[in-house]
Amino acid sequence: MRIQSLLLWGSIPFIFAVVSATGQSPERTPNMEEITQWARSGHANVHSESFAHWNDSGEIPPVCSTCHSGAGFRSFYGFDGSEPGLPQSPVPVGGVVDCDTCHSPGLPGVTEVPLPSGREHPVTGAEAACMTCHQGRASGATVDKAVAGQPDDEVNPELRFINPHYAVAAASLLGSAGALGYQYPGKEYQPRFLHARPVATCISCHEPHNLTVAEETCLTCHDTADSRQIRISRQSYDGSGNLQQGIHADIGANRQRLFALMADYAREIAGTPMVYDPASHPYFFADHNGDGLADQREGAPVAYASWTPRLLKAAYNWKFVGADAGIHVHNPHYALELVFDSAEDLSAGLGRDLTGMAR
Ligand code: HEC
Ligand code: HEC
Ligand code: HEC
Ligand code: HEC
Ligand code: HEC
Repeated sequence: MRIQSLLLWGSIPFIFAVVSATGQSPERTPNMEEITQWARSGHANVHSESFAHWNDSGEIPPVCSTCHSGAGFRSFYGFDGSEPGLPQSPVPVGGVVDCDTCHSPGLPGVTEVPLPSGREHPVTGAEAACMTCHQGRASGATVDKAVAGQPDDEVNPELRFINPHYAVAAASLLGSAGALGYQYPGKEYQPRFLHARPVATCISCHEPHNLTVAEETCLTCHDTADSRQIRISRQSYDGSGNLQQGIHADIGANRQRLFALMADYAREIAGTPMVYDPASHPYFFADHNGDGLADQREGAPVAYASWTPRLLKAAYNWKFVGADAGIHVHNPHYALELVFDSAEDLSAGLGRDLTGMAR
């Protein structure tokens, strides 16, 4: 099988070295089209933070390696002959999402993907790969466990922000079937968004090598391919009454209002104003004097440490919805529900009515 001959290659410098060493024209190199496409994608970018993060230490801890290196992924499912589960030892740096991540002969045997919520989601084909890595690292259950038995509005200095992780496309797509957002008790949530046949799986929209979404895919059903302009819903969720704008705008506006509520709640109920810095872990920082800048201690920003259970849940959902740049396509209604319920819950904590936002 042609793909097999490439399975072990994996890294771009190696492929290019082989291609130039053999002096073959692109047309004559087996799989050149896929290699070229893949080499342009984030999956192949060995310099990105997603792969270079561990370069200084030289090895990737097992728990991170399963998504940050093809070798870790193969070890997780036992495709490399090891016991399935986390690798026994750290994985060397330098790996990317290589060909054999998705073309491993063992992949078709994966029929369920374990999720951070403790559930298993049934999968077929390549989606097993996408769902494993794009599921995030936390769930509503992670948040529940952290706040169990604590009063909603009491500051607990032991609580820390729980980060859903990044590019959580599969987590949002699964909706309540994955339960990876914080789902408030007693509320119903959109399950897996099946969109419309035949665009139900990751690769019905994303070309698996360059990862882009072809415009024609959308134009068969929608009158624009600009995903941010697409709207089917006949209800205004953000109170603007504007049914011309894409659903993306409703989600964005509500998420912004949720942040304003988080800031009010932090100041008025938790007693410590907070600021958000997208470029700096753990993202939420204390701002005691309310000047909009993180407090500094010994030259470093002071992480926010006045979390109450109510604030932690809302911040988790706010970050979750923002952690998937395609959530308006992957599962717009799950996003709207998580944001609405968090805003409603914070409003209750603030003793206010939530107006101008619909679920
Ligand atoms: C082994 C883990 C892994 C698998 C399997 C995987 N991804 Fe990714 N994906 C990543 C990582 C890590 C990044 C970030 C790469 C970067 O920042 O350079 C990423 C980035 C992306 C991006 C962002 C676009 C880009 O060029 O950076 C898209 C879209 C994507 N993946 C879709 C998919 C799809 C669709 C599948 C299944 C066919 C899939 N991924 C399988 C780990 C994975
Ligand atoms: C379930 C899969 C998964 C696991 C496990 C995982 N990550 Fe990631 N991580 C991803 C994906 C997917 C991205 C790509 C985000 C993007 O496209 O920018 C990512 C991105 C990152 C980034 C880059 C963020 C940025 O701002 O660009 C860092 C740093 C990171 N992860 C650290 C870690 C660490 C540390 C661990 C282990 C403690 C870990 N990850 C475990 C899936 C995972
Ligand atoms: C993120 C997952 C992923 C990665 C990484 C990946 N592929 Fe693929 N590849 C797929 C999927 C999924 C298909 C099947 C596409 C379909 O059925 O439409 C595929 C199909 C192919 C095909 C068959 C094309 C066809 O038209 O039938 C070849 C050849 C191939 N890949 C080679 C490669 C090579 C070489 C690499 C590394 C440079 C690579 N792939 C990396 C997911 C991946
Ligand atoms: C109905 C089509 C569709 C399906 C199904 C779909 N996506 Fe997407 N996805 C998109 C579009 C369109 C975007 C780009 C949104 C934007 O940036 O405007 C996107 C964005 C993304 C991004 C963020 C890319 C970036 O630049 O940060 C990732 C990662 C991703 N998708 C992965 C997946 C995975 C994994 C699956 C399956 C679990 C999936 N997608 C299913 C259409 C789809
Ligand atoms: C086969 C037809 C079909 C294709 C192809 C298709 N869509 Fe859709 N799309 C729909 C239908 C039907 C809905 C409404 C589904 C629902 O709400 O249950 C929808 C909903 C959406 C929504 C949410 C709109 C809202 O107001 O809730 C977005 C955004 C979207 N599609 C984007 C895309 C993008 C981007 C593509 C191309 C990658 C695409 N769609 C391809 C049929 C399609």
